[in-house]
Amino acid sequence: MVIAIDGPGGVGKTTVTRRLATLLGIEYLDTGATYRAAAVAALRGGVDPHDEPAVLAAVQSSEIAYEDGVIFLDGEPVVAATRSEGVTKAVTPVSAHPRVRQHIVALQRQWVADRGGQAVVEGRDIGTVVFPDALVKVYLTASPEVRAARRAGDTEASQLSVSEIAADLHRRDHADSTRQASPLRKAEDAVEIDTSVMDVEEVVAAILELVAEGRTGSNAEEIEGTGS
Ligand code: DC
Repeated sequence: MVIAIDGPGGVGKTTVTRRLATLLGIEYLDTGATYRAAAVAALRGGVDPHDEPAVLAAVQSSEIAYEDGVIFLDGEPVVAATRSEGVTKAVTPVSAHPRVRQHIVALQRQWVADRGGQAVVEGRDIGTVVFPDALVKVYLTASPEVRAARRAGDTEASQLSVSEIAADLHRRDHADSTRQASPLRKAEDAVEIDTSVMDVEEVVAAILELVAEGRTGSNAEEIEGTGS
């Protein structure tokens, strides 16, 4: 059973994904972390993030692993490095290279296969490309103001003002949704959940209901909180 959680940054994907995995007793994979590790590999190799063959070579000669929510590069935990501002900038061109994506997607699929095909997987293209047959596909959204405020609470972004964070989210949304390879978009059969006025437990409860019904959005509606 794969549960695919897609959406742009700051909508609560990571928090929701971790909580869901705990409640379901299965593991979770943050695919953004795998692209960030690829960006760290490129930067450490002194490679221009826009140079696809050089980035691919750097990534192919590195070992990216993910265990219990921790991302590793060549055996070293690199969580702090992956959240740095430099990596947050470099990951946009790195994750836009089709051959780099091919390599990282293979790694993501293998990671899930190694866990008997049971996982909650969060990202941008999980329901559309990586696991198009996922049991449940969810696409999370939230208003730009709410997303920026949530990101401001993340340690990675705490140095920046809310308006700088909003500008960075806007830049990444645009880059992620207009790139040629696997752009960010809602899968046709995903259920869209607007998390703007929902707390984590409400979002998780809505997704658990979908899991219990074993369905995607083919017969689904949009879910919006009441704000109550
Ligand atoms: O979720 P995040 O912010 O850690 O993701 C970092 C970057 O990786 C994001 O800007 C786009 C890219 N990404 C992607 O292209 N595909 C995914 N499945 C996940 C992330």
